[in-house]
Amino acid sequence: TSTSSVIAGLPKAELHLHIEGTLEPALVRQLASRNKIPIPAAISSLTSTSSGYTFNDLTSFLAVYYPNMAVLLTSTDFSDMAYAYLTKAHSQNVVHAEIFFDPQAHTSRGVPFSTVLAGLRQAIIKAERELGMSASLIMCFLRDMSPEFAMATLTEALPYKDYIVGVGLDSDERQNPPAKFAAVFARARQEGWLVTCHCDIDQQDSIEHIRQVLTEIQVDRIDHGTNIIEDPSLVQLVKERGIGLTCCPVSNSVVTEDFKGKEILQLLRTGVKVTVNSDDPAYFRGYMNENLTKMAEETDITREEIVQLQRNAFEVAWISERKREGFL
Ligand code: ADE
Ligand code: ZN
Repeated sequence: TSTSSVIAGLPKAELHLHIEGTLEPALVRQLASRNKIPIPAAISSLTSTSSGYTFNDLTSFLAVYYPNMAVLLTSTDFSDMAYAYLTKAHSQNVVHAEIFFDPQAHTSRGVPFSTVLAGLRQAIIKAERELGMSASLIMCFLRDMSPEFAMATLTEALPYKDYIVGVGLDSDERQNPPAKFAAVFARARQEGWLVTCHCDIDQQDSIEHIRQVLTEIQVDRIDHGTNIIEDPSLVQLVKERGIGLTCCPVSNSVVTEDFKGKEILQLLRTGVKVTVNSDDPAYFRGYMNENLTKMAEETDITREEIVQLQRNAFEVAWISERKREGFL
């Protein structure tokens, strides 16, 4: 059997996936038409022959990502978006997905929190019933907005606590250190939520941010976090605590021109619970299989190590021990 059939056949868990990053251009057009609003500029400038968007860093990606969300207005819009992702993931043998969503990107435009959550929940319930998939929601705070807005969002989410497995931190990392949100994450932990934070690739203060999430925020996982390789004492710390790193090679290759395959593999071989995920697949042109294929084609990762990446994902997934045993 070829490596690609090994990858395709493996039951997979996806742990780093922004649902708003699954909004394919065709769906943006469809929702714009349904809601009778203009097609966002980044979409109308895409030609039928081009392979998609071009970005050169996180900021230029976010400058397309947020405006496209204008087409998401009703709970049906959120449900259609999430179900399209779940169907695609299911076709790649993803059996469990932990899905990030950015409520502030919607409530700041006047879409109620309850509308966002109802739509996402509906898609997850349908995927469980019709596809036999398992999925859960992780609420992310936007780090380029204020800690007060994050705290207000946390409070707004409390009535829906049981529908959200944990909280995260995303958006533009420059000059937005994790410590800015220490009180928000302390409250989230008090409320019983699990905690993760983005520590994006090659940020100005990557190591300091990784240190903060480990020592001041007390995260259960780190999203990306690949730069940890530069600090052996922090590598030792995540190994001791069994903290998972949710790495995204195709995303890295788009936003930094370096997919960090060597670093991801080195961390895996050191015994860190590294996983491979797709981040924003509609924008970076790669779902789970494409991310694993990139690792297979551009590093000397073995088939056993590809299997280990998925074993890691089920080991660090935010699921009950009973469910974990079922997957492993
Ligand atoms: N929001 C969506 N995708 C993101 C990424 N790759 N980094 C930070 N924030 C994000
Ligand atoms: Zn991300």
